[in-house]
Amino acid sequence: MNNDKAFTPFQLKNFHLRNRLGVAPMTRISSRHDSVPRQDVLDFLVARAKKGAAIIYTEAIVTDYESAQGYPGQARMTTQRQIDTWRAVNEAIRAAGSLSIMQMFHCGRMAWPEVNPAGRSLAPSPISIKQLNPMTGQPYPLPDEMSTFDIHHVINGFVETAKGAVEAGFDGIEIHGAHGYLISQFLSAYSNQRNDEYGGTPEKRYRFAHEVIEAVRLVVPQNKLLTFRISDWGVADMDVSLFGTRDEYQAIIRLLSGEAIDAISVSTYDYSLKAFGTDKNMAQLTREVSHLPILICGKIHDRASAEEALRDADIVLSGKSTLLNPDWFEDVRTGKTMAAYTSEEANIAYSETPLP
Ligand SMILES: Cc1cc2nc3c(=O)[nH]c(=O)nc-3n(C[C@H](O)[C@H](O)[C@H](O)COP(=O)(O)O)c2cc1C
Repeated sequence: MNNDKAFTPFQLKNFHLRNRLGVAPMTRISSRHDSVPRQDVLDFLVARAKKGAAIIYTEAIVTDYESAQGYPGQARMTTQRQIDTWRAVNEAIRAAGSLSIMQMFHCGRMAWPEVNPAGRSLAPSPISIKQLNPMTGQPYPLPDEMSTFDIHHVINGFVETAKGAVEAGFDGIEIHGAHGYLISQFLSAYSNQRNDEYGGTPEKRYRFAHEVIEAVRLVVPQNKLLTFRISDWGVADMDVSLFGTRDEYQAIIRLLSGEAIDAISVSTYDYSLKAFGTDKNMAQLTREVSHLPILICGKIHDRASAEEALRDADIVLSGKSTLLNPDWFEDVRTGKTMAAYTSEEANIAYSETPLP
């Protein structure tokens, strides 16, 4: 096994990464006023940069004030106050030798009326999530099928939020196309049953993602990164394979690879699991059909798992380990024995007490 990749540098377009380890995007639902996260939640990101992360992703930033928000207490990036707050965070992350990337998302049908200022729930098709909403104990509402006007309005939300991120001095922007949120809902036949140019074949289901990427790239300067996150699983109806087959998944990855993006971030529960009944994991299936740099995430918790994941990917991200262990980067470097954290342990993300 190649045993020494994690602490080698990596050139991601015009950015020099000091190692191959980063903090995965993690929503902390801490915003109280004007969609600005609590100061200690922002400080956490800077602290992880100081502790050795090469790349820091933000929590999923909500792209509009009408229908994009999926959870209470999420953040936005369109007001001067939001931008100024994040500018200071970005400067501190850069001063610590790391890159900052803003992830942005629209939740689509993963919402409930009270959580959005305008009380609307949108999706490619009027199909509800099957399971109950764990945050309300109620069924998710039936979403409105998005009209052409809605599609343009939502894309504009991504564009305005990307402009805010550029203004706030992020090194890059990530479009969240994973986990069963809006873009993922368009990509998957499970949630997209449209008969127009946005539904049907993989190419048509991909069209919405393409339009978002194209519009966002126009406002993201070439010297900034644009990444796209994808997954075969969603946070609700979790057991469903969103792509169903290797061919469907790889068709979407081929399309993505033709875009003006700088990396694909592949999100899994467990990076090592074989996917779609093949003998390959998600990173391997992505690499087979894409020349783009690949980030991989999912149960990477120690040096051995990081090195193994890096056989098939360029950068590894960790969520729970970086959340719960402030010294994770150093502990990986020294090869300390560590177990993967559980989802229950990760609920500390929502604590009011600052994390070390
Ligand atoms: C508290 C928490 C919040 C999360 N929020 C997001 C998010 O906003 N966007 C996202 O793409 N993934 C989110 N995730 C998923 C993580 O980025 C990551 O993919 C997942 O935790 C698996 O990696 P791990 O095994 O290293 O924790 C979240 C995970 C946790 C634990």
